[in-house]
This record gives sequence, structure tokens and C-alpha cells, in this order.
Amino acid sequence: MTAVSGAIRFILNGEAISLTDVPPDLTLLDWLRLERRLRGSKEGCAEGDCGACTVLVGRLMDDEIIYDSVTACIRFVGSLHGTHVVTIEHLRGENGNLHPVQQAMVDHHGSQCGFCTPGFVMSLYGLWMRNPDPSQAAIEKALQGNLCRCTGYAPIIRAAQAMSSYGLPQGDPLLAERIALKAQIKALNDGSRVEIGEGENRIIVPASLDDFAAVYESNPEATIVAGSTDVGLWVTKFMRRIGPVIFIGHLQELKRIAENASEIRFYAGVSYSEAMPTLTAAFPAMAELWDRIAGEQVRNMGTIGGNIANGSPIGDTPPPFIALGAKLHLRRGEHRREIKLEDYFLAYGKQDRQPGEFVESVTIPLLPAGERFAVYKLSKRREEDISALCGAFRVFINDAGVVGMARIAFGGMAATPKRAKAVEAALVGQPWTLESVEAAMSAFATDYQPISDMRASADYRLLSAQNLLKRFFLESTGQGQRLRREVA
Ligand SMILES: Cc1cc2nc3c(=O)[nH]c(=O)nc-3n(C[C@H](O)[C@H](O)[C@H](O)COP(=O)(O)OP(=O)(O)OC[C@H]3O[C@@H](n4cnc5c(N)ncnc54)[C@H](O)[C@@H]3O)c2cc1C
Ligand code: FES
Ligand code: FES
Repeated sequence: MTAVSGAIRFILNGEAISLTDVPPDLTLLDWLRLERRLRGSKEGCAEGDCGACTVLVGRLMDDEIIYDSVTACIRFVGSLHGTHVVTIEHLRGENGNLHPVQQAMVDHHGSQCGFCTPGFVMSLYGLWMRNPDPSQAAIEKALQGNLCRCTGYAPIIRAAQAMSSYGLPQGDPLLAERIALKAQIKALNDGSRVEIGEGENRIIVPASLDDFAAVYESNPEATIVAGSTDVGLWVTKFMRRIGPVIFIGHLQELKRIAENASEIRFYAGVSYSEAMPTLTAAFPAMAELWDRIAGEQVRNMGTIGGNIANGSPIGDTPPPFIALGAKLHLRRGEHRREIKLEDYFLAYGKQDRQPGEFVESVTIPLLPAGERFAVYKLSKRREEDISALCGAFRVFINDAGVVGMARIAFGGMAATPKRAKAVEAALVGQPWTLESVEAAMSAFATDYQPISDMRASADYRLLSAQNLLKRFFLESTGQGQRLRREVA
């Protein structure tokens, strides 16, 4: 019998919080600013794009508290059970001075109007904690999700490069507090389910994966919320009611990554940031794509399971995973089934998922020796932008130089992520030459009739898909270096 508790409990800065009456759609930013009067975190966009609302959320992981930068505007209070929330108001240096990160920003003129500054400082604080002396690339990556309209960024980057000369994490006044908080955080993660509210206001925070399966089976009308990087916008942009809600972002069993000699299995709650090292080691061709998904805060929150489950035609994980032949593991109560990932997407907004059923994991076969694989994302901005189209290509060329196997999948070209089966058929059995590739390019028009929207016109999408096949051919035959340098 699972123990049930009736309060969302977490630590805000140094204060223990216990909430028994929280609407499921209450965002952390609204709660901080409107109820707690902590107005350092700003609201710029309310959709996870600008980073002005960045705070750190510490969660227990293998007996340590790991701090992630997150966007408070799309994080729900109900998802915070058992965590430590750190806001800009809590930062301080020794003897009443500014924190080293803040002082570096002041001295290097990293702030002008100041609206974005708390968000930048919190992102940099998260970076400084794990890497006090970061490279420029690491700084840029940590700040992909923070926008500034005044400074031009160079002063902020200079401040980030200087952070370590102002102080190191070992001297952080908050370090002692965090060590002391560990026992408290552990006690909050005591293995009970949290349930508060009634009807549409009901929040359930399951105790375990099995508990989640049971709770969702008996409450199939509930909205599952993992990282809330999609659902958050339903609330802040579309004013949708989402209750009752089951929060699953805390479930350790959904954060597992299991590898063997032939495949990698990601459980649904693995965030982009958590998946990155394993995924890019197994598929180096995926590194550039991963770096271009959202910004750091959203990558810390958004999950692989959420990206697949939402069925979006422009999600970035389905095209490469389909090209690699991924299998999806679905679960309803104790019943599990496995389908090909490509079969999950039935039509726009319609997926092969029954009421009470959820995505438990996805298994991705490793590339057999000799196969070539690449994935390309086209979007208007390099960072923090959703794909206009995303194409993944995988071929096997036999010893005779003939295409023995081809799997190509695209997002942004149809109402669902979809394979280019006509193009694949046009390539298989042909020599892997520019002539064959150019001949196969016209088959994209059979596979896809893309739409025109704010991200790209139909003509642009079709032409780009064709040209990406040519690019894949050129790169896979060693002629791509020049292309890559021109693009970079
Ligand atoms: C600023 C910003 C930038 C973004 N950039 C990108 C980008 O570059 N590329 C991209 O692909 N996406 C992008 N996204 C979209 C989003 O980050 C992803 O789709 C993310 O993977 C969603 O995961 P989540 O855990 O946040 O899902 P949530 O928002 O928690 O849930 C999304 C949907 O999936 C359902 N769901 C979640 N987990 C499960 C599960 N285990 N089983 C069944 N249903 C489940 C929810 O009920 C909901 O319907 C961006 C979002 C933002 C806010
Ligand atoms: S207010 Fe812009 S990311 Fe939150
Ligand atoms: S200092 Fe004005 S927006 Fe960054």
C-alpha cells in the first residue's frame, strides 16, 4: 500500500515550503513573483525562450543534489516536490558582498537595462558550480537560452570567463547550506505519493514508476507532465486548463539509460541534457542536432519521452530515431507492448496510444559497422528554434558500391514525422553516386506534400529535403568538409 501525503514540499532558498492548496497550472514564476514577492526573476516571454526567469532547481540524484537551470515561467509548482529552488535573491558573497558571478558581471559591464541580468546570473551560477573556469564554447552553450537586447553579449561572455578569479565553488557561501539541506531533501523524497486537490484541481505526484502506471490507468483523463516544456505553453500561451495533472519529472526509474552491445534504451523521463553524453558518444552525427535543441534550461527540463509522446510533426528526436529503427515501449498498468516508433504517429495530433497508456522507454539500435548516418536540422535561428525541417539519413553501401539499405525520415515535411519510402526505394540497388542521388531526389515529391507556414514555405521545404540528400551524399563520400566549413 503506497503511503499518501497531502502537501507539495520543497525548499525555497533556505526556507522549507509546504503547500496543500496549489492549482496544477500555477507556474513557479507566478508563485515567486505574485505570492512570494520575489521579483528578481523576470517574465520576458512566458514561453521558455528568453531566460529572464531562470532559477536553479536542485534534485537528488545518486545521493547528491544536482542543480539544473530551468525556466520558471513554464515550470509548475506541483512538479517541485522534493527539490531545492534557488532564486537570484538567495545569491550572496562573503561578508555581505556580491556573489563572485554577480561581481564579475558588474566589473565587466555585463548588465545595462538589467532586465535579463538575473536570468544570466542564474545560468552562469549553474555553470560556475560545475565548471568555474569554462571555455568560450561552454559559456555559449550555457547561455543559449538567455537573451539580452542591450549588451551584445561580449561583456557577459567576458564576465563568464573571469568568474573563477572572483571565487571558486568551494568558497560559495551557499555550499554549506546545500550540504545541510541534503538530509532535508532526502527526507522529502520519502517514497510516498503526493495527492492534493479535487477534480480539475487535482495534482498527483506518484511515488514510483509502478505507482504512476497504476494511477494513470485509473485516471486516464489526467494530463501527464514530465518536463512541462510543451505543457507549460498550453497554460501560458493558450490558457488551457490542464488538470487533473500527474507530474512524473521526479521519477528516477524513468531517468534510466540502459546500454548493451547492440542498443541503447532511454526511459521516457531522461532529459535532453541527461541523454546528451550517451547519445552523442554512440551517434556522433547527433551531436550538432542535440546542441541545437532549445537552450540549456529547456534541455534540462524537456524529456525524450515528452518529445515523442506529444506527436509533434516537428519534434527533433523522431526523425533520427526512426531512421535508426527505434522501438517504442508503451505501458498501461502492468500491460506492456512494443511498436516501431514510426508506427506510433498515426495522423496529425493522433498517436497509437490508448487511454491510460504512456511512453515508458524508447530503444535505439546501434549502427551496424559500415553504415553511414547523418541528421540535419534547418531552422531560422541556429539556437532556441524549432525545426522548419529535420532530416535523418542512413544508408549501407555494399562492397560493390551499391546502396544495400536506405532509411530516411523527416520532420516538418508532413503531418507526422515520416519516412521517405519512395526516395529509399529509388536509392536501393543503385550505385552510391551523385547521378543516382540526383535521380532519387524527385521522389521526395511522392513522399511529402509539405505545407507553407511561418517557419518555411512548401517549396523551400521540398527543395531543402532534396538538397540535404545531396549534402549527405557529398559528406558521406568525403566531399563534405568544404560544405561544413561554409555552413559554420
Ligand atoms: C523554448 C523552447 C524551445 C524548444 N525547442 C525545441 C527544439 O529545438 N526541438 C524540439 O524537438 N522541441 C523543442 N521544444 C519542445 C519541447 O522542449 C520538447 O517537445 C520536449 O521534449 C517535451 O518534453 P517535456 O518532458 O517537456 O514534455 P511535457 O511538456 O511535459 O509533455 C509534452 C506532452 O507529452 C505528454 N507526455 C510527457 N511524457 C509522457 C510519457 N512518458 N508518456 C505519455 N505522454 C507523455 C504530455 O502529456 C504532453 O502531452 C522547445 C520548447 C521550448 C519551450
Ligand atoms: S520568461 Fe522568457 S523564458 Fe521564462
Ligand atoms: S541588459 Fe537589457 S536586456 Fe540585457
